[in-house]
Amino acid sequence: MEYRGLLYRVEPMRTVDIEEVMAIERLSFPNPWPASAYRYELEHNPRAHYYVARSQPAPQSSLGWGGNTRGVGTASPLVGYGGFWYVAEEAHISTIAVHPEHRGRGLGELLLASMIEKAISLEAAEVTLEVRVSNQVAQELYRKYAFHQVGRRRGYYTDNHEDALLMSLGEVRRSSYRQRFEERLEKLSYRLRARSEAHRAR
Ligand SMILES: CC(C)(COP(=O)(O)OP(=O)(O)OC[C@H]1O[C@@H](n2cnc3c(N)ncnc32)[C@H](O)[C@@H]1OP(=O)(O)O)[C@@H](O)C(=O)NCCC(=O)NCCS
Repeated sequence: MEYRGLLYRVEPMRTVDIEEVMAIERLSFPNPWPASAYRYELEHNPRAHYYVARSQPAPQSSLGWGGNTRGVGTASPLVGYGGFWYVAEEAHISTIAVHPEHRGRGLGELLLASMIEKAISLEAAEVTLEVRVSNQVAQELYRKYAFHQVGRRRGYYTDNHEDALLMSLGEVRRSSYRQRFEERLEKLSYRLRARSEAHRAR
């Protein structure tokens, strides 16, 4: 799937991206992962699927997500990232974050949708994740894509012993969900494209 003319593109995370990922990680989480955790995921974990979102520097190189990025290099800033582990037909989202200056523009949704899309292509039966009880923003994002609470892990987070909600998207294989997902993607694409056009008209 290609979305031309967007302000952002999504592509697989590489080891050279880790420094930029870490800058956003530190701004986004009270308990940031160390760089070595990302290095391990990228270099040694065959079940890991990690992505980054970058601003598009030039309209003619726009591909939205999953596109060919040859020749673009790393000149455009990294503005968000996300990743999941794929084990036994379950895609478990381990992280997602957007640079604070780029939040509220559809980018977190673009990253989440990219991961769900990848999970669909892997024929996942379920997509799961944990989220802090207090993190209403992220919970809203997940509910928008039909995740619902299936459990609660008491004192899951080590920094403040906050509970985690375990959320699941269990209908990912259903044609009715795929239909709704496609409709959501269309709306997201429209939103991002409108923003991109407004940005370029400035
Ligand atoms: C969670 C996060 C990734 C969302 O990214 P974002 O780019 O700001 O989100 P988007 O602009 O794509 O918004 C998508 C949806 O998220 C929800 N959302 C976003 N901002 C919100 C806000 N301030 N209040 C309530 N819901 C909000 C809405 O459902 C929104 O859909 P809508 O625009 O149709 O209302 C971002 O806030 C972030 O990086 N937070 C810090 C890290 C984090 O908490 N990660 C989640 C760990 S589980």
